[in-house]
Amino acid sequence: MVSSRPRRVVLDTDPGIDDALAILLALASPEIELAGLSVVHGNCPLSDAVANALAVLQLAGHPHLPVAAGCVRPLLREPVTARKTHGGRGLGYASLPASPVVPVAEHGVDMIIREILAAPGDVTLVAVGPLTNVALALRKAPQLATAVHECIIMGGALHDQGNTTPLAEFNIYADPHAAQIVLSSGMPITIMPWDITKQVRVTEEQVQALRAHGGPVPQFIADATRFYMDFHREHFGWAGCAINDPAALALVWWPELAELRDLYVTVETVSELTMGKTIGDFRGLTGQPANVRYVARFDSAAFIERFLARMAALSRLIR
Ligand code: RIB
Ligand code: CA
Repeated sequence: MVSSRPRRVVLDTDPGIDDALAILLALASPEIELAGLSVVHGNCPLSDAVANALAVLQLAGHPHLPVAAGCVRPLLREPVTARKTHGGRGLGYASLPASPVVPVAEHGVDMIIREILAAPGDVTLVAVGPLTNVALALRKAPQLATAVHECIIMGGALHDQGNTTPLAEFNIYADPHAAQIVLSSGMPITIMPWDITKQVRVTEEQVQALRAHGGPVPQFIADATRFYMDFHREHFGWAGCAINDPAALALVWWPELAELRDLYVTVETVSELTMGKTIGDFRGLTGQPANVRYVARFDSAAFIERFLARMAALSRLIR
């Protein structure tokens, strides 16, 4: 039975250019009710990520949606950021006015716990940054593992090379110990890996076409993604940029775009050389039961078409 009631979602995020696009997509999608943003270190330092989250909500006309600052650094390893990918302050060439709204006093970890335990079975946690907040939430309230409806994670590189080291994708690399806690928690986890999201790209032409709708949203998207596209062109030789986080978020209400398979996945946390590598046991050699579902195939073209249509609709709303 298709649920008509919007799915309540907590988005754990490190905005970040593609995170910002995920926030815009969440606000443009009636299928979900965005409960709040728990912010985590990652693409940029936590303070910038919090300011970016508030500014993007202000841009999209939802300035008072709760933003909770979470963990400022990984559990154990030294902090890493992705300034080369997302720019010095985390939103590429975009410069948004600072929001007058401040983050809520609640810690991001406590927002995750409170929201999920307030409605057992009803809340989906979407994690599109390093998993530090999610791991500490599980340590503080282990019952989250059975109370959450689903935990969707953008992260990992299962078959292909990583985007941060030859083996590791950024979100997992930035806090591999947190990822190991989450993967062994027993939560119903769906992984949207880099293998898939690297193919989910918007092009300069598509972004420029959004500007026909006018308003500040297309301008922001163009300024933010121009930096992101420069990075992808220089480092991967691509035209366009991978919008990882919106693709992961969309699994909440467009699951028909994905083919999901069960898999046992663990993560390397010891060796400097392989730190953050997600290891999928595709042939069942470990004898371990599956602990995640992962996206094996994704209709990227259909998603991009739907994403751009939602951005156009949002652009027409925000003047
Ligand atoms: O590897 C891509 C992921 O790392 C995305 O979530 C991006 O925003 C960064 O957090
Ligand atoms: Ca992210």
